[in-house]
Amino acid sequence: MLESARILSRCDELALCSELPGGLTRVFLSPEQRAASELILGWMREARMSARVDAIGNVVGRYEGDRPGLPCLMLGSHLDTVRDAGRYDGMLGVVTAIECVHALAAAGKRLPFAIEVVGFGDEEGVRFGATLLGSRAIAGTFDAATLVAKDRDGVTLAEAMRSYGLEPERIGEAARRKDEVLAYAELHIEQGPVLEAEGLPVGVVTAINGFSRRRVTLKGEAGHSGTVPMGLRRDALTAAAECVLAVESVARSEPELVGTVGRIEASPGAINVIPGEVRFTLDVRAPHDSLRESALAQMLSRFESICAPRRVAVSVEVLQDHGVSVCADWLMAQMDRAVAAEGLRVRRLPSGAGHDGMAMHALTDIAMLFVRCKGGISHNPAESITEEDAAVGARVFARFIADFVPQKP
Ligand code: GLV
Ligand code: MN
Ligand code: MN
Repeated sequence: MLESARILSRCDELALCSELPGGLTRVFLSPEQRAASELILGWMREARMSARVDAIGNVVGRYEGDRPGLPCLMLGSHLDTVRDAGRYDGMLGVVTAIECVHALAAAGKRLPFAIEVVGFGDEEGVRFGATLLGSRAIAGTFDAATLVAKDRDGVTLAEAMRSYGLEPERIGEAARRKDEVLAYAELHIEQGPVLEAEGLPVGVVTAINGFSRRRVTLKGEAGHSGTVPMGLRRDALTAAAECVLAVESVARSEPELVGTVGRIEASPGAINVIPGEVRFTLDVRAPHDSLRESALAQMLSRFESICAPRRVAVSVEVLQDHGVSVCADWLMAQMDRAVAAEGLRVRRLPSGAGHDGMAMHALTDIAMLFVRCKGGISHNPAESITEEDAAVGARVFARFIADFVPQKP
């Protein structure tokens, strides 16, 4: 029996593993991740899975099929959060997948394939500025150059792994072979308003939009705020203000395009000093790679033309680029059937948010099921779902798993 109340109470319990008092922030390789992982390991074992932490800190549970050692249907989502997050982004997918296995185990059922459930340690990329680290390690596409990326305290990824008890040299051991994994499927809250507007509890994802992420540094000259006349200044922050507006105006030029400056820092940062340097992040996303690439090029060229007359230098660091990840037709068809079997209208929709499937796509075919969330609000403590929708999502996902037929080789 699938227990939707348990799905929600487990999301509540995970939300207590937080560095933010009274809210939820849980970043990669933190003590809070360790606490959340302990909970997940316990729930996996309760669902009669063998459970372990892999070489990059993902939690991996395995429920054998009708004989040991079969290739698996891999299910999962992430356990890390943004800062001051909601409690369902990521966690709902991990907890629901465990619940589906729990129901199979309680009924003594084994399938003609194994099931693995993964709680990815890093999807959001909050701590090191590089996303999808957990799923990239499993997909075998982890870039060792990321090991020197630093968090806001100057701790490198390699150092953080060591303090967590992991060995960076052994990350390769987390990678899975293609013949071990039949497909990857993830349940996730929609994080947008489409399902709510159409009165539907779930939707089948067609593709995950691509993204480009950059760190932009503008260098002007710090100076005395009382003495330097306006015409003689090289103020990096006023230049940055214009750049932020340029991002907005380029992104507004196409309905499917979005562009965000989510973080900005000015130095030296005093009331009576002209800001000499500004660093800001840029995140551009679109459902077509060519649209995203041309928008990004336009934004960067606007930065140059804004900054040149201000005598402010622009430098741009590439953080990440990811093309659109298309969900597999054969898996979407099986997910459609699971939705229809619950008596629901099948609604297909693209994902504007990034997901672990983007990395898993390099290893295997992917599918996603979205669950409606209130007001489409996410990356916000107000994120909310109903128990009824959690139950529908779990039923559809459980049916997808039970009826799953691997693609013929
Ligand atoms: C992850 O949630 C992202 O889309 O940034
Ligand atoms: Mn997120
Ligand atoms: Mn997510």
